[in-house]
Amino acid sequence: MANIFAKKPLAQLLGEANSSGHGSLQRTLGAGNLVALGVGAIIGAGLFVRTANAAAQASGPGVTLAFVLAAFGCVFAGLCYAEFAAMIPIAGSAYTYAYTTMGEFVAWVIGWALIMEYALGAATVSIAWSEYLNKLLEVFGTSIPYSLSHSPFEHAVVNGVTQQGIVNLPALLIIVALSLLLVKGTQESALFNAVVVILKTLIVLVFIAVGWQFVNPANHTPYLIPADAVVKNAAGEVVRTYEGWNKHGLGGILGGAGIVFFAFIGFDAVSTAAQEAKNPKRDMPIGILGSLAICTVLYILFGHVLTGVANWREFADPALGGEASVAYAIRAHMPGYGWLATAVTVGILLGFTSVILVMLMGQSRVFFSMAKDGLMPKAFSELHPKFNTPYKSNLMLMVFVGLFAAFVPGSLAGDLTSFGTLLAFVLVSIGVWIMRKSDPAQPRPFLAPLSSPSFPLVPFMGAIVCVALIAGLDEFTLKVAFAWMLLGFVVYFLYGKRNSMLQKGIVVVPTEMDEEAFIKPDKHNA
Ligand code: ALA
Repeated sequence: MANIFAKKPLAQLLGEANSSGHGSLQRTLGAGNLVALGVGAIIGAGLFVRTANAAAQASGPGVTLAFVLAAFGCVFAGLCYAEFAAMIPIAGSAYTYAYTTMGEFVAWVIGWALIMEYALGAATVSIAWSEYLNKLLEVFGTSIPYSLSHSPFEHAVVNGVTQQGIVNLPALLIIVALSLLLVKGTQESALFNAVVVILKTLIVLVFIAVGWQFVNPANHTPYLIPADAVVKNAAGEVVRTYEGWNKHGLGGILGGAGIVFFAFIGFDAVSTAAQEAKNPKRDMPIGILGSLAICTVLYILFGHVLTGVANWREFADPALGGEASVAYAIRAHMPGYGWLATAVTVGILLGFTSVILVMLMGQSRVFFSMAKDGLMPKAFSELHPKFNTPYKSNLMLMVFVGLFAAFVPGSLAGDLTSFGTLLAFVLVSIGVWIMRKSDPAQPRPFLAPLSSPSFPLVPFMGAIVCVALIAGLDEFTLKVAFAWMLLGFVVYFLYGKRNSMLQKGIVVVPTEMDEEAFIKPDKHNA
């Protein structure tokens, strides 16, 4: 009888990984490098698209407070991530951590949830990319028709005419192009990454500094959305109401926090660098907390300026600021700064391209590990004879992610991304506590503070805050997410459990070759 909670033996895995050259990475990163790495990995579509979404759907100008709440969940879960990452210094994903600590079934659940984080994350950013591409085309006096740049579930009244979405072609195209690039194999250029990181940080700083002068205090009153608020479009149609508990007032802050949580995804890149930190004990918390603190401050200022320059109601109307919100706010309310809108748009397009690439690569990496373990079909771990890339995985993802990009609204894909990541955070937080109890002797180069088995404050807060953020997500999103997880259970019991290498008694060890199958984004600059 198979034991679905069987654990991958950690000692053996670590031992063999070490002998194949893993775990011998140079310890070169100081606290400053780690903070830069975190900030570079974090800023993206979450800030440039979902800040406005959260303001329009739930928080109003209180989106600043939503950022604070989301940051709390990240801090606690981030410290737990770092403990795992330092303890299990191989393929740094929550799936691997769970397999050795909480057993196969939980690992499966995390792996399945990570599909939402990476695959749907890539789809979300590609949809955001499509919005900003259209803004750039408008500068040149042209644009892609609404019907060909939106999902069939979206419509808007533009210049008095109702436009209906059919397919989001630009989003689909960028996914296809980048997937094919991954099939061929690509070394992300450190220079490109460095430029992108500087560009996106500059965009944030310049927008805050310049936009500050255009903040209209009236836009900040009231600070939270009233329950009876109604937003209508140009044709007088009601586009949004706010009765739900998580759509107005204080509840709206929680609702918004689940939406902007997306903006923090990626800081776990810091924890996966644990093995390269010079002094993990001191530098990891500085790296994680420092990059989160810097981003949180930038995000709060950014949210303050964005909702001060334009009114949150404008962000609720797809024909006004509902899309490419930053470019919209500059053009509509900051006279004389059209050039800034264009510069910001170009920078954002470049930044999004690299985020999509990293997310698609992250997804094929998770599939690769799961396929090696027998939990997913072998095709996901097959390498191309010439390019040495997991090309079948890349091509299947191209179809799957491409379909989402083409036919699903960005807000749903983004919320599902938040859900998947939050669920992984909850399980990682609990996992740290379980591991402290079940395997206290295992060496831990980095210990999450306040996490002793008898007083697990940090793991419990991580789990509680992330569960609360999940609870604050849109009801429809939660239904889709639960259906997805249910499908995952079916796949596990029909396929994964029967084909698991572990259940068959075969120990799978990652090799150098496997690692080389992936482009390695230069983490120090990403
Ligand atoms: N935090 C990343 C972004 O906002 C995922 O794009």
